[in-house]
Amino acid sequence: MKFNLRINSHFIAIAAAMIFQSCNNEPVTDLAKESIIPKPVSVVSTGKQFLFAASTEILVEGESTELIKIGKYLSSQLNDVTGFSPKVESANGAPKEGNVYLVLGGSNSNVGKEGYELTIDVDMITIRANHPAGIYMGVQTLLQLFPTTQVETSKDGYQISTGTIIDYPTYEWRGSMLDVARHFFSVDDVKRYIDMISAYKMNVLHLGLSNDQGWRIEIKSWPNLAIHGGSTEVGGGKGGYYTQEQYKEIVAYAANRYMTIVPEIDLPGHINSALASYGELNSGIKVPVEGQFKGPMQTQGILGGKQKPTELYTGIEVGFSTLSLAKPSTFTFVNDVLRELAEITPGPYLHIGGDEAHVTKKEDYIVFINRFSEIVKANGKQMIGWEEIGQANIDENAILQHWSNEKYAQEGASKGARIIMSPSKRVYLDMQYDSTSRLGLHWAAYIEVDESYNWDPASQVDGIEHNQIMGVEAPLWTETIATMDDIEYMLFPRLIGVAEIGWSPADGRSWDEYKVRLAQHGVRMKAKGIDFYRSSRVPWVD
Ligand code: ACM
Repeated sequence: MKFNLRINSHFIAIAAAMIFQSCNNEPVTDLAKESIIPKPVSVVSTGKQFLFAASTEILVEGESTELIKIGKYLSSQLNDVTGFSPKVESANGAPKEGNVYLVLGGSNSNVGKEGYELTIDVDMITIRANHPAGIYMGVQTLLQLFPTTQVETSKDGYQISTGTIIDYPTYEWRGSMLDVARHFFSVDDVKRYIDMISAYKMNVLHLGLSNDQGWRIEIKSWPNLAIHGGSTEVGGGKGGYYTQEQYKEIVAYAANRYMTIVPEIDLPGHINSALASYGELNSGIKVPVEGQFKGPMQTQGILGGKQKPTELYTGIEVGFSTLSLAKPSTFTFVNDVLRELAEITPGPYLHIGGDEAHVTKKEDYIVFINRFSEIVKANGKQMIGWEEIGQANIDENAILQHWSNEKYAQEGASKGARIIMSPSKRVYLDMQYDSTSRLGLHWAAYIEVDESYNWDPASQVDGIEHNQIMGVEAPLWTETIATMDDIEYMLFPRLIGVAEIGWSPADGRSWDEYKVRLAQHGVRMKAKGIDFYRSSRVPWVD
């Protein structure tokens, strides 16, 4: 009885909406014409409509608490855009018509861990996947089929075009890096960052937790790192750091979005914030005063013959600081930091930096990276480093992040390392769009929106093939980026294109087709309050 009533009320609502729609002469929508980003692998339209009404519920198969959690996430997102509050519950057997149904298993086997099948019929929306991560990705696609704000039709419901989407990622690694060391960002800022990139199916957030200008994570055995080393930032602001509890909160928030946090402690260079916190880490090597390479040299941390901490640094030069192989405290420090970080990081990776160690002797650098690799492994994690680690004795257990020098990337790949592609001329999102951009640097390039989209990871570096590439990552270094608005302006819309490069098959991508879909996302970004760059190369629709 209840069953019939629900069907009837659903079909009455459909009929009402059809009348409403024909009165308004709205065209019947076509699923294949929706501006979904990243572009799905396959979309087949069936030309009808599902009515998402106030009575529509989100049903999950069985009693899976994880599916219920995803269902509640979907419900709250839909509440924002429809004003409805869809109930979330177990389907208790066969799902009733008129609802959204989340179900694990039985989907096309080649969708893998993050892929999904989204079927929209007149009487049911079904998201099927092999793993909850795939359901979550399908939910992101479904959300893009809704308007971004509550529109006039809301009381009658929302028409969703029918058809089937089968979708899965090209690369397993689709990420962004946020440098919280040059400028510090709050836990809430990082959560917003996670939400913004997750909406485009990114699954990695790499956090740059230390650099010359700041140390941003509490290390209980070396407390001064955060307390003193975290007490400033570029330009001399007050900086900050995450307690281990706050870091765990970020990790859990990301995990609920099927995103892995990759923490980076930059070693053996980019280390001034640690050298400023503990005198015993200083080696007495000659380094440029205040990091100004054209200026005079001073002895790192040795003042008047005594081992002293360096000064905190608030400029933007790079490559002037280093750990010392000769100091007994160096590896006590590295062991403690990586151990504590591994303990609070459930993800499988630790990033040890390894870039721009310009004042570390090459032979010492190689020894450092080899030791870091052993320490990371002893802590049960896999080592990631910037491309310079290709010079060390790395093997297939290492992951190398390419950013500038192809030779290092090729060297690392020839030793078996897998590669994350972050070519600075394409995806360093702190680069200015053009010479008039109000934020950003341009040492790598000016990067307009089409230039960050128009490239392919598998043909980026000679000799590095698709199967050696884990995926793509778009870093946001923050020398010039101090607020959430700044972050959004540099990230968007370029990040959306990088997300598509990581997810969608290369042979289906073209700027001319993409820019039209991207234009529709201007409305979405605006609705979410994202302060994006309105490139003149994109035909925005408002
Ligand atoms: C880097 O841009 N130094 C990795």
